[in-house]
Amino acid sequence: MKFFQAVGTCVLALSSLVSAATFTNPLRAKDGADPHISYSGGYYYLMTTTWSDLRITRAKTLGGLKTGETKTVWKDTTASRCCNVWAPELHFLDGAWYIYYSAGQSANLDLQRPHVLKGGANPFDAYTYHAQLTNTWGIDGSIVRFSKWGNHFVWSCITNNVQALCIAPLTAPGKIGATKILSQPTQSWEKNEKPVMEGPAAMYHGGKTYLAYSASYCWTPNYSLGLLTWDNNGDPALAKSWSKSGPLLTSGNGNYGPGHNGFFTSPDGKEIWNVFHATAIQKGACDGNRYTMAQKVNWNANGTPNFGSPLKLGTSLAGPSGE
Ligand SMILES: *[C@@H]1O[C@H](CO)[C@@H](O)[C@H](O)[C@H]1NC(C)=O
Repeated sequence: MKFFQAVGTCVLALSSLVSAATFTNPLRAKDGADPHISYSGGYYYLMTTTWSDLRITRAKTLGGLKTGETKTVWKDTTASRCCNVWAPELHFLDGAWYIYYSAGQSANLDLQRPHVLKGGANPFDAYTYHAQLTNTWGIDGSIVRFSKWGNHFVWSCITNNVQALCIAPLTAPGKIGATKILSQPTQSWEKNEKPVMEGPAAMYHGGKTYLAYSASYCWTPNYSLGLLTWDNNGDPALAKSWSKSGPLLTSGNGNYGPGHNGFFTSPDGKEIWNVFHATAIQKGACDGNRYTMAQKVNWNANGTPNFGSPLKLGTSLAGPSGE
């Protein structure tokens, strides 16, 4: 009996060696806020908010990002965009990689603007300054792609004195068309301490376009993910073409204020993954005390995304399929 149990254990150990890579969260323990991951050419590329510059870390496995090769790709002394460098995202458009990010002046946060850098065919190529996208306050710019309606720029803007989401056609990687208000924080879960909608992130599944965003003030444990859904009907630049649901990712298992996410696909393209930040501080945090977590997106029977709950740090998770 003893003998057979030992053999069984041995077989289990071997089979876990040959199955997909496992990893644990957090992927970045400190300064892991506003994470964004792109998978391209055999590498995951991770960017988070550093406040002072733009850095990209790459690795061949998700867990490898913890110790991956890191390159500082941008630092700027231009007064209008020197400081408070937030929320960088890599997007591939017209044959080149672009980094969309927020930055402003050293004095305060009232002059934050969305900016974009232009790179090359590989995310690790050199970047040059490309453009500022708005002349009014704006942060957390991201791209949503529509086959019929073209690429759009979405970001957090100020309207009626609150942080809402705005949308505009992206007429070129550094240029937007007419701005419209996409959605305003009207639900109680979007108004904890302050009404806020920020950090939009798009994903595509089952013929629908989903735009996740972060709701409520970031210095609370109630910062969470909400979702806007466009079901392929009507001009996506119009608020009425989207429906709102949430909150769909909230504090859990010792992780507080989960939000400001990004989506990426697994190496085999079969899974969608959610990368987001959270903090271990119970009253919430909006500084370097936020870490980066990644979890697979699951799907409800009715086809809607299920983000689950942020799992306890250190839980062993299967890596993305195709690793
Ligand atoms: C805010 O989050 C905390 C911690 O998770 C929770 O105890 C509290 O009930 C939440 N408040 C609201 C209004 O949702």
